[in-house]
Amino acid sequence: MMDLVIPDKIHDESRQGEALVLEPAAGKNNGRKLYIESYGCAMNFSDSEIVASILLEQGFETTADYSVADVIFINTCSIRENAEQRVRNRLKEFTVAKVKKPGLVVGVLGCMAERLKSKFLEEEKLVDVVVGPDAYRDLPNLIDQVDSGQKAVNVLLSREETYADISPVRLNSNGINAFVSIMRGCDNMCSFCVVPFTRGRERSRDPQSIVAECTDLFNKGYREVTLLGQNVDSYKWKAGSESEGPSSESETNPGDNTTNFANLLELVALVNPELRVRFSTSHPKDITDEVLHTINKYENICNYIHLPVQSGNSRILEMMNRTYDRDWYINRIDAIRRIITDCAISTDVITGFCTETDEEHNDTVTMMDYVKYDFAYMFKYSERPGTLAAKRYADDIPEEIKQNRLQQIVAKQQEYSFYRMQARIGKVEKVLIEGYSKKSDKDYCGRSDQNAMVIFPVGENYKPGQYVNVLIERSTSATLIGKVV
Ligand code: 5AD
Ligand code: SF4
Repeated sequence: MMDLVIPDKIHDESRQGEALVLEPAAGKNNGRKLYIESYGCAMNFSDSEIVASILLEQGFETTADYSVADVIFINTCSIRENAEQRVRNRLKEFTVAKVKKPGLVVGVLGCMAERLKSKFLEEEKLVDVVVGPDAYRDLPNLIDQVDSGQKAVNVLLSREETYADISPVRLNSNGINAFVSIMRGCDNMCSFCVVPFTRGRERSRDPQSIVAECTDLFNKGYREVTLLGQNVDSYKWKAGSESEGPSSESETNPGDNTTNFANLLELVALVNPELRVRFSTSHPKDITDEVLHTINKYENICNYIHLPVQSGNSRILEMMNRTYDRDWYINRIDAIRRIITDCAISTDVITGFCTETDEEHNDTVTMMDYVKYDFAYMFKYSERPGTLAAKRYADDIPEEIKQNRLQQIVAKQQEYSFYRMQARIGKVEKVLIEGYSKKSDKDYCGRSDQNAMVIFPVGENYKPGQYVNVLIERSTSATLIGKVV
């Protein structure tokens, strides 16, 4: 049984394994075709766009058909075991393609690179090149090495790399929403998590390059940006800390030269009032009232916060090394409700973490009752090699219990999602139209400020990329349905 996830754009099930296809760079063609497919979180999809823009500069063309490709890349995720298993199966299919086409280059990018490099390259001989998330600038060089008959590896993690100067090419995109990476890596060391090992130390990107990218996106017609980081609330940029820090005092905290996340949100909100700003992921230990006040102050910063709780029990949170307890989390929820008018909240939950008792699991259930989340991503604990939990604690909750607990919270979330959706009936939502609905080209779909998917009939006076007011008439647990007013 797979993890049960309520889909959303941040870890979008429907995009797993999607291939990226782009216009070739003008005037450059090396006659070679690149196929790149991506797994995992939005950060990984965003990284694939960086990889593509580096290789387009080298004259590559992209293709959606791996059987005609000269280079196949798979951008991988390690967060849970089933994500890794999926990639492994896919690599076996590519190996078959390689037998038919000997010059074919097959490479593994992203989070699985560091941990599995020797396994993939030497033991299983599945791939020619393995590249970690901080080494994408080295790709042209690594491909040359493979062309000359060697295996190539670069899994070095960096303390500085943010790819700030590379403007990612965005296709497979509707031209309306884009992800913008504002930081990389993570310093939190949650005991269950591989990210600090696969993506390295946390570093923030120059705010000026972020604002420039968002301005450029707006000028190209985009109307929504999602600022991405593992822990956006610890975003921090000190002017002069890099060769080109922000130059203008007015863009930073008065008195000191540091831009924090609240300041950055404000800078991006000011790009244009017609540009919606979203962000993910917030960390309960770091989300400040200042951030909440900034969200409330700007109409175009969406009232939606993804605030992973992981567990509702303080002892389990301590073992998870989350550095907050139940009371702290509740205090942050209360602050959101107090400061922001009408804010949706979603979360991540892990069931069956090491030593979790039934009573402790029940604390997670009662937390869900307290918050009544709009959405939740729910997972069974899966031990990841090299993490603190793998070293310190036995993965001792039987699969069946993990599964039962997961099912219980999934059912509970289903109820609360429906409850939140039903509460919208009779209200008017401002919706940014994204395109036709999945089911019918007689309907448009788009998201409300609170990130709910809204479906309504197509009309002559509005089109994708525009905002409309939709009166909500009914709902399912995942969608609001209504008409433009
Ligand atoms: N087992 C289960 N879920 C995990 N997550 C991260 N690591 C693990 C793991 N080892 C979940 C957390 C995190 C989300 C991105 O994935 O809930 O917030
Ligand atoms: Fe992993 Fe915790 Fe960092 Fe999130 S905050 S990426 S769960 S270590």
